[in-house]
Amino acid sequence: MIKKCLFPVAGYGTRFLPATKSMPKEMLPIVNKPLVQYGVEEAMEAGLTNIAFVTGRGKRAIEDHFDVSYELEHQISGTGKEQYLEGIRAIIETCCFSYTRQTEMKGLGHAILMGENLIGDEAFAVVLADDLCISSGEGVLSQMVKLYKQFRCSIVAIEEVPLQETEKYGVVAGELVREDLFRVETMVEKPKPEEAPSNYAVMGRYILTPDIFRILRNTPPGRNGEVQITDALMTQAREGCVMAYKFKGKRFDCGSVEGFIEATNHCYQHFYK
Ligand code: UTP
Repeated sequence: MIKKCLFPVAGYGTRFLPATKSMPKEMLPIVNKPLVQYGVEEAMEAGLTNIAFVTGRGKRAIEDHFDVSYELEHQISGTGKEQYLEGIRAIIETCCFSYTRQTEMKGLGHAILMGENLIGDEAFAVVLADDLCISSGEGVLSQMVKLYKQFRCSIVAIEEVPLQETEKYGVVAGELVREDLFRVETMVEKPKPEEAPSNYAVMGRYILTPDIFRILRNTPPGRNGEVQITDALMTQAREGCVMAYKFKGKRFDCGSVEGFIEATNHCYQHFYK
C-alpha cells in the first residue's frame, strides 16, 4: 500500500516576500505550528510515514524542524513546557524523513521528478503544504488513499472555485463516475475563465502512480516555461486513467496572504482557544 508522501518545497514563495527571503514559506506558522507540520500530520494520519522532501537553497529550517533539538530538549526537560513539543516528538518518532534538492526551479512537475530517487517504483502521495486542508472527519489524504485502494490510478483533489479564479489553478473536466468523483478527460493549467473546461480546480493533494516519472521526463516545459504536473497528468489520463475527487473538508490557500490570514483565524478559533 501507499507508504510514501512527497513534499515539493523548493518554490521561492514570492507572494510572501520579504518573510520568505531567508525562511521557507512552508515554515510560516498557522498560530503556533508551521504549515509543513500540518501537512506531515495529515500524511501520518493516512498511514504515510515515509516522508520525502524536494527542497532547495535556504530550506534547511525544514530539516531542522523534523529533527531533535538536544539543547532545547535539555533546557525544558522536566518543566511544564515539554507539552509544547509532544506533537513534533511523536512525528519524529513515527516518521522517516529523506531529502533531495531541486537545484533549478523548473516547476512543480520538475520538482516531483526530482523526487523519483526517494520514491522509486511505487504509488505515492504529494502534498503542497501551502494548501492547508482541514476536515472534521477523516483527513483529505486519508480519503484519497482509500479511493486509491479502489481505483488503483492517479487521483487529484479538486474543489469548485469562482470562474474568475481559474487562472490560478489547474482545471479539470471529465465524466462523472460518482457524485464526488470524475474520470478526467481534460486538464488545463491556469486557463482564462473563458477557456476553462469547468470551475473544478486541482488543489495541492495528489496520489500518483510511478509511471508519472516516465511521463514527466518526456513532458516539455509548458505554461511559464515550467514543467507542469498538469500536462503530465493529462498524458496519464489519455494513456490510462486519472480520477478527480471532490474531497470533504475545507482548504485554505496559505500561499496567499488572504488565505493565510483566513487559516490563522480558523485554526485559532477551532484548535487553539
Ligand atoms: P507555487 O506556485 O505556490 O510557487 O508552487 P511558490 O514559489 O511556492 O510561491 P509563489 O507563487 O512564488 O508565491 C506550488 C508548490 O510547488 C513547489 C512549491 O514549493 C509549492 O509547494 N515548487 C514549485 C517546487 O518545489 N519547485 C518549483 O520549481 C516550483
